Amino acid sequence: MGKIKRIGVLTSGGDAPGMNAAIRAVTRTAIYNNLEVIGIRHGYSGLINANFKPMKAYSVSDTIQRGGTILKTARCMEFKTPEGRKTAYENLRAAEIDGVVVIGGDGTFNGARIFNEEWDIPFVGIPGTIDNDIYGTDYTIGYDTALNTVVQCVDKIRDTASAHNRMFFVEVMGAEAGHIALYSGIASGAEAIIIPELKGETDQLKALFEDGTKRKKSSNIIIVAEGDEEGGAMGLANRVKADFPDYDIRVSILGHLQRGGSPTAIDRVNASRLGNAAVEALLDGQKSVMVGLQNDEIVLVPFRKAVKLHKDVNRSLIDIIDILNV
Ligand code: F6P
Repeated sequence: MGKIKRIGVLTSGGDAPGMNAAIRAVTRTAIYNNLEVIGIRHGYSGLINANFKPMKAYSVSDTIQRGGTILKTARCMEFKTPEGRKTAYENLRAAEIDGVVVIGGDGTFNGARIFNEEWDIPFVGIPGTIDNDIYGTDYTIGYDTALNTVVQCVDKIRDTASAHNRMFFVEVMGAEAGHIALYSGIASGAEAIIIPELKGETDQLKALFEDGTKRKKSSNIIIVAEGDEEGGAMGLANRVKADFPDYDIRVSILGHLQRGGSPTAIDRVNASRLGNAAVEALLDGQKSVMVGLQNDEIVLVPFRKAVKLHKDVNRSLIDIIDILNV
């Protein structure tokens, strides 16, 4: 590949608050460096259908505070095929795009990794998913906003739970990881947190409820990660109800409201830093890497590692859940 003159940018997979701030940072850093920028719409589908639109500095005005993604997103099956990726390459070549910034999660990076094994147009990734489940970065864009959304919801649920002396099972997103559940559970003072990274917690629930009854707790909030082996909040609530028929139990599944809303300041700042770093990485000749944040410093992590290695939850937080619930 020669000198980079024109870059593409796309968002792929589940949207996350702060993606627009990242698109803005990519666009403006590129323009600052005299590069042309092409917005690729609807994720990898836009690469395959040549759904391209030139981006100017003003194209990203008034977007830093908006949730969703101005470029739209998709989960594209065709990009998983060699034929789909070949068409994408031909479209990029025809549009004279010399490098691409992809904003998304592990599925997005896996597609980019395979593409860069086959074709010579460099891809650089920015971690954007509410799940915070990408190895090699302490933080993914959208996670902080989603956490704050969950905490606001649980605070409201706590009011009604206390008023009725009820127990609530609140299900949160996170795919197969428990980051959102663990952090939001600590932040909202949950009585228990059920995450895929821990096994057999439901046995401990029984003891917890008996204790709570002794202490005359007026409410109990159990945060359940959607990916937990127990099968979600509804299944768990039904089993507890069978064991404790006198409990007044309700279930609340927060769902996609966790994905929307205006990004927090943290998400905007980190998205701005990562967007800037992704363009710098392309200019430095990098390919097949994700830009991430470790200890508040920008790092480059090969896609190969980011998608294959597992990011564990913060185990020190698990240790304090029970202590904070004495
Ligand atoms: O990866 C983000 C995420 O919101 C997960 O937490 C959730 O499991 C999934 O996407 C939902 O995907 P969809 O919007 O396609 O239903």
